[in-house]
Amino acid sequence: MASVDLERFLPHMSKLDLPSRPRRNRKSASIRGLVRETIVTPADLILPLFIHESKVDDAIDSMPGCHRWSLEGMVKEVGEASALGIRAVVFFPKIEDDLKTSHGDECVNPDGLVQRAIRAVKSTYPEVTVITDIALDPYNSDGHDGIVQKDESTGDLKIINDETVAALCDQARSHAEAGADIVAPSDMMDGRVGAIRDALDDADFEDVSIMSYTAKYASAYYGPFRGALDSAPKDGDKKTYQMDPANWREALREAEADVSEGADVLMVKPAGPYLDIIRAIREEVDLPIAAYQVSGEYLMIKSAAKDGWIDEDKIMVESLTGIKRAGADMILTYFAKKFAQQS
Ligand code: PBG
Repeated sequence: MASVDLERFLPHMSKLDLPSRPRRNRKSASIRGLVRETIVTPADLILPLFIHESKVDDAIDSMPGCHRWSLEGMVKEVGEASALGIRAVVFFPKIEDDLKTSHGDECVNPDGLVQRAIRAVKSTYPEVTVITDIALDPYNSDGHDGIVQKDESTGDLKIINDETVAALCDQARSHAEAGADIVAPSDMMDGRVGAIRDALDDADFEDVSIMSYTAKYASAYYGPFRGALDSAPKDGDKKTYQMDPANWREALREAEADVSEGADVLMVKPAGPYLDIIRAIREEVDLPIAAYQVSGEYLMIKSAAKDGWIDEDKIMVESLTGIKRAGADMILTYFAKKFAQQS
């Protein structure tokens, strides 16, 4: 076969005269390692754990690879994760239906499921950071993050902000009393970060941190999670408190509020479809940023990999790397343990 006639295609030169050839920095695995800008490590990851009132560990159908743990099973899982280098966990409880009320009163029970889970981990693995979710949805009979007021004549629902914030303060204080290191309000009520900060400080918990779900979007990517906890709203949706997926300036407004109210870490959720939001907040704010790779993001990867359509391990690493590259310092992900097993 005749060789390519360079002179014919590029009559004035036989070689490109390039001042820069970026490919030189990609020419070997060793050099690629030297120039790599973003490396995800197990220490960046936070493992979400579902817990329930049972002695049995149940596999969750809607989230392959995840379980609803008994307290004993959960503590064992924390031990395994910690041995792999995962140093932080966050709990999501499935509360028995007969404990749910319109005001979510069970959330402050000192012997409630979450409070016992906190004590169980802190007494066994004190070095592991325990983060708890602050919101009423697992506890309230309406399945909303806040207290619902129903207009009997129109049937319209209203999630009442200020009364909810008071309940969230009690919940945060109760988690701090049980030994939580970080409370993470995921409810999106206005003013809750400042109110929780005051409530914690007044109770001498000034060392307990607040990881605020700053920009939490009203997202369909939470579907599998709500299936796992049976926590979907009974009526209506969460659009009057969670953010519109179309907005980014509003995320900056939320970030500004959380900074001024004393948040320690700001969170963006979901993560993968909202990388621009992570970047926008990164550029405006000096606080650490967390991003939550949520159940739908996880499930899409899991289900595409199940039939061999994509390579699960590679997509796991690439998706987490993208989230960190966008500006996240830490990532909540259901892949945490699997990622750590391979690192
Ligand atoms: C509720 C809460 C949700 C998630 C974390 N905390 C769901 C919701 O807002 O309905 C979602 C997590 C996931 O999808 O992985 N306070």
